[in-house]
Amino acid sequence: MDRRTALRTLLRCTCALAAAGVGCGGEWREAVVLDAPDAGACAEGLTPGTPEQGWVEVKLDAHPALREPGGSAEVRVPQALLDVVVVHTADGCYAALWRICTHGDCAVGWKPSEGLLECPCHGSRFGSDGRVLQGPATRPLAAFPAVRVGDSVFIHRPR
Ligand code: FES
Repeated sequence: MDRRTALRTLLRCTCALAAAGVGCGGEWREAVVLDAPDAGACAEGLTPGTPEQGWVEVKLDAHPALREPGGSAEVRVPQALLDVVVVHTADGCYAALWRICTHGDCAVGWKPSEGLLECPCHGSRFGSDGRVLQGPATRPLAAFPAVRVGDSVFIHRPR
């Protein structure tokens, strides 16, 4: 399975779960891990490119929690094959992490009190840069460059 196909498969599964309003099903399935560049560092000052180059605009009006440091939001843009947790990690710095756990097909969530992402299915934990803090997952979450410009956050999701 190539990278684009893997990403489409992951997005379909996520959107299907979201549409059904359910979390992880009773059956555990190993995740197809998205291969993405290490992008956990703060991208402040980076100039976003065009949609054709893989940049996706996320308007803060739709996700007001992202305006303040510590805020987070689940951002899904199916037409851009984007399904991430976005976290305003520090003043001017954002993290955008693939939402599907690398251990199975459950959606991770941001725990602001601990400053990490946790999977509700088997307890894997990930840092805001995507690295594994606690298993059973052994592979990091894909992290995408994210930068604020004006009243939007732009996320680079390579295709
Ligand atoms: S699916 Fe098992 S820890 Fe996330």
